[in-house]
Amino acid sequence: MREHSEAALRVRGLRSHYGDFEVLHEVDATFAGGKITVVAGRSGCGKTTLLRNVLRLINPTSGTIELFGRDISELEEDELVKLRPRIGVLFQNGALLQSLTVGANISVPLEQHTRLPADVIERIVLRKLQLVELNGIEHLMPSELSGGMRKRAALARTLALDPEIVFFDEPSAGLDPVTAASLDRLIVELSRKLGITVIVVTHELTSIRRIADRMLFLDAGRAVFEGTVEEAEMCPVESVRQFFAQGSSEPPARRSPDEARM
Ligand SMILES: Nc1ncnc2c1ncn2[C@@H]1O[C@H](COP(=O)(O)OP(=O)(O)O)[C@@H](O)[C@H]1O
Ligand SMILES: [Mg+2]
Repeated sequence: MREHSEAALRVRGLRSHYGDFEVLHEVDATFAGGKITVVAGRSGCGKTTLLRNVLRLINPTSGTIELFGRDISELEEDELVKLRPRIGVLFQNGALLQSLTVGANISVPLEQHTRLPADVIERIVLRKLQLVELNGIEHLMPSELSGGMRKRAALARTLALDPEIVFFDEPSAGLDPVTAASLDRLIVELSRKLGITVIVVTHELTSIRRIADRMLFLDAGRAVFEGTVEEAEMCPVESVRQFFAQGSSEPPARRSPDEARM
């Protein structure tokens, strides 16, 4: 288990625009180290935009983003590059490269970021597959896998470099309820077993109840609640109350352009 300071990630006064359109309005939030925090809220409230800012895929208009105790907006490009392996991301479609075997897919980050010899990389690949409960499928092509297996294989790749913090954007989107439940169980297990800080963007209430240690609730670009799920369920804020009363029936989001870039 890793040792954790209290906050792995902290955003303060974060504002973010697309053109003239302000999506995030001075968001303040703290994400506890070693815990699973769910970022919830209705479609279009700015969840993915928050993620994009933290991952430096877009730059905030103002505010600070402190990751591992450092303000990432102050970091030079080469320092950001060094930070990359410590951060894992699984985007909604967790796209594997279709022309490579599962094993080769998981090797990609290891080959890019390390100088480990091939046999060591091979052993790491097998270990990561074991971790996501996909033993013995390294020789298969992504097209031979079910949706749930593909997501796990993509997760194995995300874990290849032993990230300290992992971001998931709508991990169970497009999965049937049984597969979604088993992915949730895996996320909880990995967080507990490896001590990884996990941040999950989701609008799925069933999923939130299964995985969340803590919640950040966004409403139209404002952080309106932070706390435990139990506290959220008693929160008097109207948008939070409605969310828990109705769940959310959001259509699956479009494939994000970020996936191609990460
Ligand atoms: N690339 C973009 N350009 C312009 N507007 C965008 C872009 N991405 C998202 N938006 C808008 O920003 C708002 C927040 O989007 P997003 O962060 O994707 O919400 P969520 O992930 O909570 O569904 C929405 O109104 C959305 O239409
Ligand atoms: Mg989104």
